[in-house]
Amino acid sequence: MPSSRSEHPQLQYEQKPEVKQLLGDNHSYIRGNIATRGPCPGLNALANQGYLPRDGNNITLSEVETALMSALHMDKPLASALTNSLKPLLHKDKTFNLVDMRQHNIIEHDVSFTRLDFRQGDNYTFQPPMFQALLADANGGPVTVKSLAKTYVRRRKESKAAGSPGLSINLWFVNLLQSVSLLNTAATGGKLSRELMVTFYTEERFPEEVLRNEKPRTLFGLVGNALLLLFYTFF
Ligand code: HEM
Repeated sequence: MPSSRSEHPQLQYEQKPEVKQLLGDNHSYIRGNIATRGPCPGLNALANQGYLPRDGNNITLSEVETALMSALHMDKPLASALTNSLKPLLHKDKTFNLVDMRQHNIIEHDVSFTRLDFRQGDNYTFQPPMFQALLADANGGPVTVKSLAKTYVRRRKESKAAGSPGLSINLWFVNLLQSVSLLNTAATGGKLSRELMVTFYTEERFPEEVLRNEKPRTLFGLVGNALLLLFYTFF
């Protein structure tokens, strides 16, 4: 059976020991084939930067938790909480592939900011016009909790207009947390520059300013940002 490593020569090249030796820790950015990726730009980026298996396959929960703590400076409670949400996707051998995250209504859901709803045909591919609308909600400035609240309300209306069913309470909560996950992970003082947004969403890469910023990212911070977003949806 051909593995995706052998289908994608750049990944094979990446794994040669002499290349690893030359690159040291080997967290250089090499974009993996999109066919091996899921709808989460965060986990895709971790694979593109070698914090998770670059081929996006056979990933263990402990690899995810370690990557979140070491690359993105999450504390253990936050890293564990996020990682545990992957449990329903595990295979018999206790691993999952990034593509498994495309399965609808397990942890993937409608009303995403940059992905279409399931009934619109493709629930996992990045959609550039949706990304432009996300940036436009910030009126030319940086993306903030307030602009994300605007996006959140707009996407709910668009999804309803497209005839998609509402989210279950579980997925509503997951969606709410995801809406502020980049803001919390970037830890750039509540503002996401357009440059950071473009790098993260279009290249699926965490810029150095995020990776080098060792400020601990906490579950408390994530939930706090989510509550602030909710507040702005009302006021
Ligand atoms: C174990 C950790 C994680 C899990 C299980 C996870 C899971 C997911 C899933 C399933 C989606 C797709 C939701 C959908 O559109 O239906 C998603 C989207 C997203 N994830 Fe993650 N994620 C994780 C870590 C991260 C991290 C560290 C970031 C950091 C920035 C991140 C940022 C995002 C963003 C911004 C979206 C929304 C994409 C959009 O529609 O605009 N995620 N995540």
